[in-house]
Amino acid sequence: MLIRIYRNLKRNITEDGLIISSSGFLVNNMVGKIDFSRPLRILEIGSGRGAFTRELISRMSPDSQLDICEIKTEYNPWIEQLIKATPGKLVNLHNCCVTHLLVEAERYDVILSSLPLKNFEDPDSQHAFLYQVIHAMRHGLKEGGIYLQYQYFKSNKSDIEQVFGKKMDDVSFVPLNILPAFVYSMSK
Ligand SMILES: C[S@@+](CC[C@H](N)C(=O)[O-])C[C@H]1O[C@@H](n2cnc3c(N)ncnc32)[C@H](O)[C@@H]1O
Repeated sequence: MLIRIYRNLKRNITEDGLIISSSGFLVNNMVGKIDFSRPLRILEIGSGRGAFTRELISRMSPDSQLDICEIKTEYNPWIEQLIKATPGKLVNLHNCCVTHLLVEAERYDVILSSLPLKNFEDPDSQHAFLYQVIHAMRHGLKEGGIYLQYQYFKSNKSDIEQVFGKKMDDVSFVPLNILPAFVYSMSK
Protein backbone atom coordinates (compact mmCIF):
# COMPACT_ATOMS: atom_id res chain seq x y z
CA MET A 1 0.00 0.00 0.00
CA LEU A 2 2.69 2.51 1.08
CA ILE A 3 4.87 1.44 -1.83
CA ARG A 4 1.99 2.08 -4.26
CA ILE A 5 1.41 5.58 -2.78
CA TYR A 6 5.15 6.31 -3.02
CA ARG A 7 5.27 5.10 -6.67
CA ASN A 8 2.24 7.23 -7.63
CA LEU A 9 3.72 10.27 -5.88
CA LYS A 10 7.08 9.78 -7.60
CA ARG A 11 5.39 9.37 -10.98
CA ASN A 12 3.26 12.51 -10.44
CA ILE A 13 6.34 14.56 -9.63
CA THR A 14 8.65 13.28 -12.37
CA GLU A 15 6.11 12.99 -15.21
CA ASP A 16 3.51 15.65 -14.43
CA GLY A 17 5.51 18.00 -12.23
CA LEU A 18 2.96 18.10 -9.43
CA ILE A 19 2.04 16.32 -6.20
CA ILE A 20 -1.73 16.79 -6.20
CA SER A 21 -4.11 18.83 -8.40
CA SER A 22 -3.90 22.62 -8.17
CA SER A 23 -5.85 24.22 -5.32
CA GLY A 24 -8.94 26.39 -5.72
CA PHE A 25 -6.80 29.35 -4.62
CA LEU A 26 -4.40 28.85 -7.52
CA VAL A 27 -7.23 28.20 -9.98
CA ASN A 28 -9.07 31.38 -8.92
CA ASN A 29 -5.90 33.46 -9.03
CA MET A 30 -5.10 32.42 -12.61
CA VAL A 31 -8.58 32.26 -14.08
CA GLY A 32 -9.38 35.57 -12.31
CA LYS A 33 -6.81 37.30 -14.53
CA ILE A 34 -8.91 36.58 -17.65
CA ASP A 35 -11.45 39.13 -18.91
CA PHE A 36 -14.42 36.96 -19.89
CA SER A 37 -16.63 39.90 -20.89
CA ARG A 38 -15.91 39.36 -24.61
CA PRO A 39 -15.72 36.27 -26.86
CA LEU A 40 -12.37 34.56 -26.38
CA ARG A 41 -10.35 31.82 -27.98
CA ILE A 42 -8.73 30.07 -25.04
CA LEU A 43 -6.12 27.31 -24.96
CA GLU A 44 -5.57 25.36 -21.76
CA ILE A 45 -2.37 23.30 -21.79
CA GLY A 46 -1.86 20.37 -19.41
CA SER A 47 -5.37 20.01 -18.02
CA GLY A 48 -4.71 16.87 -15.97
CA ARG A 49 -8.02 16.02 -14.27
CA GLY A 50 -9.44 19.46 -15.02
CA ALA A 51 -8.86 21.69 -11.99
CA PHE A 52 -8.67 24.74 -14.29
CA THR A 53 -10.88 23.33 -17.03
CA ARG A 54 -13.99 23.27 -14.83
CA GLU A 55 -13.60 26.95 -13.96
CA LEU A 56 -12.74 28.02 -17.52
CA ILE A 57 -15.83 26.26 -18.90
CA SER A 58 -18.06 27.77 -16.24
CA ARG A 59 -16.80 31.36 -16.76
CA MET A 60 -16.43 31.48 -20.56
CA SER A 61 -19.23 33.05 -22.59
CA PRO A 62 -21.25 30.82 -24.95
CA ASP A 63 -19.59 32.48 -27.97
CA SER A 64 -16.09 31.73 -26.65
CA GLN A 65 -14.09 28.66 -27.58
CA LEU A 66 -11.87 26.51 -25.37
CA ASP A 67 -9.24 24.10 -26.71
CA ILE A 68 -7.70 21.75 -24.18
CA CYS A 69 -4.32 20.21 -24.89
CA GLU A 70 -3.36 17.26 -22.68
CA ILE A 71 -0.72 14.80 -23.81
CA LYS A 72 -2.01 11.94 -21.64
CA THR A 73 -5.24 10.14 -22.54
CA GLU A 74 -5.63 8.74 -19.03
CA TYR A 75 -7.21 12.05 -17.93
CA ASN A 76 -9.81 11.98 -20.72
CA PRO A 77 -12.69 10.59 -18.60
CA TRP A 78 -12.51 13.62 -16.24
CA ILE A 79 -12.34 16.13 -19.08
CA GLU A 80 -15.01 14.40 -21.17
CA GLN A 81 -17.35 14.46 -18.18
CA LEU A 82 -16.85 18.23 -17.78
CA ILE A 83 -17.52 18.74 -21.49
CA LYS A 84 -20.65 16.59 -21.39
CA ALA A 85 -22.00 18.49 -18.39
CA THR A 86 -22.00 21.81 -20.32
CA PRO A 87 -23.31 21.11 -23.85
CA GLY A 88 -23.84 24.83 -24.59
CA LYS A 89 -20.10 25.61 -24.51
CA LEU A 90 -17.60 25.12 -27.35
CA VAL A 91 -14.89 22.89 -25.88
CA ASN A 92 -12.49 20.54 -27.68
CA LEU A 93 -9.96 18.14 -26.19
CA HIS A 94 -6.73 17.42 -28.10
CA ASN A 95 -4.48 14.57 -26.93
CA CYS A 96 -1.11 15.66 -28.28
CA CYS A 97 2.03 17.54 -27.39
CA VAL A 98 1.35 21.26 -27.34
CA THR A 99 4.09 21.87 -29.94
CA HIS A 100 1.94 19.89 -32.43
CA LEU A 101 -1.21 21.86 -31.67
CA LEU A 102 0.30 25.35 -31.74
CA VAL A 103 1.07 25.58 -35.46
CA GLU A 104 -1.30 28.39 -36.48
CA ALA A 105 0.02 31.88 -35.66
CA GLU A 106 -2.04 34.27 -33.54
CA ARG A 107 -4.93 31.88 -32.87
CA TYR A 108 -5.53 32.44 -29.15
CA ASP A 109 -6.52 35.38 -26.94
CA VAL A 110 -5.56 33.45 -23.82
CA ILE A 111 -3.15 30.58 -23.20
CA LEU A 112 -3.33 29.11 -19.70
CA SER A 113 -0.56 26.61 -19.09
CA SER A 114 0.11 24.15 -16.27
CA LEU A 115 3.09 22.69 -18.10
CA PRO A 116 5.96 21.70 -15.79
CA LEU A 117 8.49 23.82 -17.68
CA LYS A 118 11.23 22.99 -15.18
CA ASN A 119 10.97 19.31 -16.21
CA PHE A 120 11.73 20.31 -19.82
CA GLU A 121 15.16 21.72 -18.95
CA ASP A 122 18.00 19.83 -20.59
CA PRO A 123 21.46 21.45 -20.49
CA ASP A 124 22.79 18.89 -23.04
CA SER A 125 20.54 20.35 -25.75
CA GLN A 126 20.71 23.97 -24.48
CA HIS A 127 17.13 23.40 -23.28
CA ALA A 128 15.93 22.93 -26.89
CA PHE A 129 12.50 21.47 -26.04
CA LEU A 130 11.83 24.04 -23.30
CA TYR A 131 12.48 26.85 -25.80
CA GLN A 132 10.47 25.11 -28.52
CA VAL A 133 7.48 25.05 -26.17
CA ILE A 134 7.77 28.71 -25.14
CA HIS A 135 8.27 29.81 -28.77
CA ALA A 136 5.18 27.80 -29.76
CA MET A 137 3.12 29.62 -27.12
CA ARG A 138 4.28 33.03 -28.31
CA HIS A 139 3.57 32.01 -31.93
CA GLY A 140 0.03 30.85 -31.10
CA LEU A 141 -0.89 33.94 -29.07
CA LYS A 142 -2.63 36.94 -30.71
CA GLU A 143 -1.11 40.43 -30.43
CA GLY A 144 -2.49 41.73 -27.13
CA GLY A 145 -3.22 38.18 -25.96
CA ILE A 146 -2.19 36.90 -22.54
CA TYR A 147 -0.12 33.86 -21.55
CA LEU A 148 -0.67 32.63 -18.00
CA GLN A 149 1.67 30.08 -16.46
CA TYR A 150 2.17 28.80 -12.94
CA GLN A 151 5.48 27.45 -11.69
CA TYR A 152 7.03 26.53 -8.38
CA PHE A 153 10.19 28.28 -7.10
CA LYS A 154 9.87 31.12 -9.70
CA SER A 155 11.48 28.83 -12.27
CA ASN A 156 11.83 29.62 -16.00
CA LYS A 157 10.67 33.25 -15.63
CA SER A 158 13.73 34.55 -17.46
CA ASP A 159 13.32 31.93 -20.24
CA ILE A 160 9.80 33.20 -20.94
CA GLU A 161 10.97 36.83 -20.81
CA GLN A 162 13.77 36.04 -23.25
CA VAL A 163 11.41 34.48 -25.82
CA PHE A 164 8.77 37.24 -25.48
CA GLY A 165 11.49 39.92 -25.53
CA LYS A 166 10.08 41.78 -22.52
CA LYS A 167 9.62 41.66 -18.76
CA MET A 168 6.73 39.73 -17.25
CA ASP A 169 3.61 41.93 -16.86
CA ASP A 170 2.84 40.49 -13.46
CA VAL A 171 4.02 37.80 -11.06
CA SER A 172 1.75 36.83 -8.18
CA PHE A 173 2.32 34.34 -5.39
CA VAL A 174 -0.21 31.77 -4.22
CA PRO A 175 0.93 30.23 -0.92
CA LEU A 176 -2.12 28.01 -0.45
CA ASN A 177 -1.22 25.33 -2.94
CA ILE A 178 0.90 22.19 -2.79
CA LEU A 179 3.51 23.42 -3.62
CA PRO A 180 3.16 27.22 -3.21
CA ALA A 181 3.13 28.64 -6.72
CA PHE A 182 4.09 31.73 -8.69
CA VAL A 183 1.66 32.86 -11.40
CA TYR A 184 3.19 34.56 -14.43
CA SER A 185 1.21 36.87 -16.71
CA MET A 186 2.86 37.71 -20.01
CA SER A 187 1.08 39.73 -22.68
CA LYS A 188 2.19 39.71 -26.31
C1 LIG B 1 1.49 19.94 -13.48
S1 LIG B 1 0.29 18.94 -14.34
C2 LIG B 1 -1.10 20.02 -14.23
C3 LIG B 1 -2.43 19.36 -14.02
C4 LIG B 1 -3.58 20.34 -13.68
N1 LIG B 1 -3.73 21.37 -14.68
C5 LIG B 1 -3.33 20.99 -12.34
O1 LIG B 1 -2.82 22.12 -12.29
O2 LIG B 1 -3.68 20.36 -11.32
C6 LIG B 1 0.89 19.11 -15.98
C7 LIG B 1 0.09 18.42 -17.07
O3 LIG B 1 0.73 18.73 -18.33
C8 LIG B 1 0.65 17.58 -19.18
N2 LIG B 1 1.72 17.70 -20.18
C9 LIG B 1 3.05 17.50 -19.99
N3 LIG B 1 3.74 17.73 -21.12
C10 LIG B 1 2.82 18.10 -22.06
C11 LIG B 1 2.93 18.48 -23.43
N4 LIG B 1 4.13 18.51 -24.05
N5 LIG B 1 1.80 18.82 -24.11
C12 LIG B 1 0.60 18.79 -23.48
N6 LIG B 1 0.43 18.43 -22.17
C13 LIG B 1 1.53 18.08 -21.47
C14 LIG B 1 0.83 16.41 -18.21
O4 LIG B 1 0.34 15.22 -18.75
C15 LIG B 1 0.06 16.89 -16.98
O5 LIG B 1 -1.29 16.46 -17.01
